[in-house]
Amino acid sequence: MEYSQIQLVKNPNITTPALNHFVKPNDIESLIRQYGTPLYLIDENTLHAKVKEMHKAYSKFTGSVKIAYSIKANFNPAILHAFRKDGITFDLTSLGELRFIKHCNGDPENFIYTSVTEEFNEYFEVLQSGVRRVVVSSFNGMTNLAKAANKAGVKPLTMIRVNPEVGVKAEIRASYKNGKFGVPFNGGTIDSANKIIKHLMYNDLLRFDGFHFHLGSQITDFSCYLHALDKMDVFITKMKKEYPNFKVNTFDIGGGTPVSYSDPVPSPAIIAKNFMYKLNQLADSHGKFTLMIESGRFLVAESSILISKIVNTKEYNDHKIVIVDAGYHLLLDAALLKQEYPQEIVPTLENKQLAPTQETHKNVHLAGRLCDTYDVFPLSKISNLNGADIGRYVSFYNVGAYSIVFNMPFHCQTKPPIIMKTCDDNFKLVRKGTSYEQLFVEEGGDIAY
Ligand SMILES: Cc1ncc(COP(=O)(O)O)c(C=O)c1O
Repeated sequence: MEYSQIQLVKNPNITTPALNHFVKPNDIESLIRQYGTPLYLIDENTLHAKVKEMHKAYSKFTGSVKIAYSIKANFNPAILHAFRKDGITFDLTSLGELRFIKHCNGDPENFIYTSVTEEFNEYFEVLQSGVRRVVVSSFNGMTNLAKAANKAGVKPLTMIRVNPEVGVKAEIRASYKNGKFGVPFNGGTIDSANKIIKHLMYNDLLRFDGFHFHLGSQITDFSCYLHALDKMDVFITKMKKEYPNFKVNTFDIGGGTPVSYSDPVPSPAIIAKNFMYKLNQLADSHGKFTLMIESGRFLVAESSILISKIVNTKEYNDHKIVIVDAGYHLLLDAALLKQEYPQEIVPTLENKQLAPTQETHKNVHLAGRLCDTYDVFPLSKISNLNGADIGRYVSFYNVGAYSIVFNMPFHCQTKPPIIMKTCDDNFKLVRKGTSYEQLFVEEGGDIAY
């Protein structure tokens, strides 16, 4: 099979695991010569294509649709600049993210701020920065936002993060009974949507704008969205009876669109199709609203590859241990969630085909450089480690989400450089990587003793 043909044919309803071969082996080799390994590669075209795919999936909604990139998935400034060109919204969770996107000339009118901490000083900085849409997740949060709004002299659009408490089948669940995120519809205390709305309705400092929920990440069974939307419907009907002017202008259904690492997953189109009738029915019965879809993983995961070098091997009992110069300090979810990133040996120029070798009969274990039991990478069903010998390179695919941002200095490891393949087919260094000297200083090594 030719290198470029390994991509699987796409069924519009499901996304099968595929290797995004956006860099040719000879380009990989020359980038490695220049920057060494480990090395991240990001494809800008893939980022824009994902935004388009997401917009298309929700195009049947009768109101307007906004796609919000959840910066937490990858805050690399080159990625933020790329998405800024797409004119999408940015979903922020911390002051750090706010400063990053502001530095990238993001327009605060296009930000939605959903905090977990919800402190007064935090909200004050958020409002001073020009952000006008904030999602509150507790009564205390709403009070702090109102105080901050008063001090800043602005009246922000305020949304309530509800916890619909529905069963979620996903790798990471964010909605469950008595959960950390959002408030229940009717919790019996001030920390419930019902009580917060009461205050928002009669509050001169904040403008009620709508609801937000986030059910989880890597959601493959989307029935949870339907359950949550049904519960929303009942709650909105109740609120309309209590408050004659009650109107939802914005409804944010959070993130969760899955990415295929090892098993096929439903595409955004098929996910949206399954609850589009419900969204349109909500708009029919309660008035048109702007639908907001947050997405981190789906928008960035497939844009990035991590290239690592095989630096050591050993064999016994029909097993081959292959050790690379990366580790879970670069791909934390491989250890945390047993994420099966697809891996492949980079073909050498003479050996484009990588025919199965004797190693096919061996159990190959791909292990990282850390002296830690968990530093062994789970293999994806489409991983191909034929030819895994010392000196060869391994590509880890789909590493754009929740990986670069988790890079950590465990074992005194530095951050690798990142190269972006831009839309005009140039390779641009977008993160220099760090040195041991920088790490030493960061850790306080320059303090005199
Ligand atoms: C509130 C909120 N929105 C959106 C997301 C993004 O989720 P995903 O990356 O699965 O799309 C997250 C992830 O944790 C989140 O907490």
